[in-house]
Amino acid sequence: MPAALSPIDKAKFVAARRAVAFVEDGMRLGLGTGSTAAWMVRCLADRVQNEGLRVTGVPTSTRTAELARQLGIRITSLDEAKWLDLTIDGADEFDANLALIKGGGGALLQEKIVATASDQMIVITDAAKEVAHLGAFPLPVEVIPFGWQTTRALVGETLGSLDVLGREVTLRMNGDRPFVTDEGNYILDLHLGRIDNPRQLSLVMNQIPGVVENGLFIDICDIVIVGHGDGRVDVR
Ligand code: 5RP
Repeated sequence: MPAALSPIDKAKFVAARRAVAFVEDGMRLGLGTGSTAAWMVRCLADRVQNEGLRVTGVPTSTRTAELARQLGIRITSLDEAKWLDLTIDGADEFDANLALIKGGGGALLQEKIVATASDQMIVITDAAKEVAHLGAFPLPVEVIPFGWQTTRALVGETLGSLDVLGREVTLRMNGDRPFVTDEGNYILDLHLGRIDNPRQLSLVMNQIPGVVENGLFIDICDIVIVGHGDGRVDVR
């Protein structure tokens, strides 16, 4: 274990290390995005270097691709790999049904495509991300830049007819400019407070023209590994 980790980094590290123990020789892996997923890439690189583990990774962002490349993990595209054995990724929230909110790091589109194209998805988190009801974390919705203000208005109107507490929709910014995803799109953050029917919300959001994808992951995650600051790990 790396020396002198803060409790939050230790929680992320132990969750990542446990998830990487599921990786077998020859696997094709989806590599998630974010600070927890970065620990997973480091733990995976450690096994590649020290055990001679042979794996091929499909990164879900340019950030993850760069880190994997730097650490000597072989990477390829999803089109090349076609199907994956396992994806390991972080999340912003998860509930008792292993439904997730993702996209805090802005990579939800590639993350959802890659996780859906995998036999199994393992999510790695710290304990603070477990919730009784999704929605305290703003739900990211990726939209194309063309007509994004009209799309935002439609998203707002649609929320009016759904069972959610809050209705505020904000454009994610990067300084004084819109945040732009790896796919060249914008992100709307939906401040909902509580989502009572995530499946319905996900389906309805994706029917709005201009919406590319939303950050609700329903029936995609198989296992959640929760790390704690004292080094304990729970598997859900
Ligand atoms: C990126 C994501 C991340 O997995 C999520 O935001 C969690 O990130 P972190 O591990 O840094 O808390 O969905 O799009």
